[in-house]
Amino acid sequence: MHFNILTIFPEMFPGTLSGGVVGRALDKGIWSYTTTDIRDFAINNYGSVDDEQFGGGAGMVMRPDVLGSAIDSVKNKGKIIYFSPRGKVLNQKLVHEYLKNDTITLLCGRYEGIDQRVIDEYDIEEVSIGDYVLSGGEIAAQVFIDSMVRLMDNVVGGGTETTENESFEIGGLEWPLYTRPSVWRGHQVPEVLLSGHHGNIERWRKQQSDDITKKRRPDLIKEN
Ligand code: ADE
Repeated sequence: MHFNILTIFPEMFPGTLSGGVVGRALDKGIWSYTTTDIRDFAINNYGSVDDEQFGGGAGMVMRPDVLGSAIDSVKNKGKIIYFSPRGKVLNQKLVHEYLKNDTITLLCGRYEGIDQRVIDEYDIEEVSIGDYVLSGGEIAAQVFIDSMVRLMDNVVGGGTETTENESFEIGGLEWPLYTRPSVWRGHQVPEVLLSGHHGNIERWRKQQSDDITKKRRPDLIKEN
């Protein structure tokens, strides 16, 4: 999959995406990205890309002429996504949906946001990564890419079995995890996990997952 990233901070990429399994997948060519510096399309030599809001109010807005030229410079755009707290909130189901695309263009805004006409003109989909406000879309873009790349084939060790057993994929939150040593500071690993009895282990994990989901995220139970 290829991501076209439009930003005024191209140096922020690959950023966190250079490490771990996602970084290795980038090196292997499982996914790729290019950045377009929105400032290259500024209206003047000062590099202006934003202006005051019509109607008044605090905060600057990214100009449609600048963004339009930046978007038009991308040859194969695919679906265009703009990161914004007003967008639909990203979840694991949506991540699987977006994974069906070959190419996605990610528009990272700054300041108060972007001119609405750009969203309308290109039929841009707005995506939020949660109910809080970030200072720009770059971190959201990295969250978005990471969530998708780790589901691609040959990225996460253990294959699809590993990602299928995770929180949200199992219809709730994941059960507690334990590794060696079996006793640490007097805390014992639950006996059932040492029993080698696969049926009992599976039942215990399901029960733990159900209990923790009911307690922390009852909304996930209603959804399924
Ligand atoms: N830009 C600012 N806040 C954001 C959020 N919560 N999600 C995505 N992009 C954003």
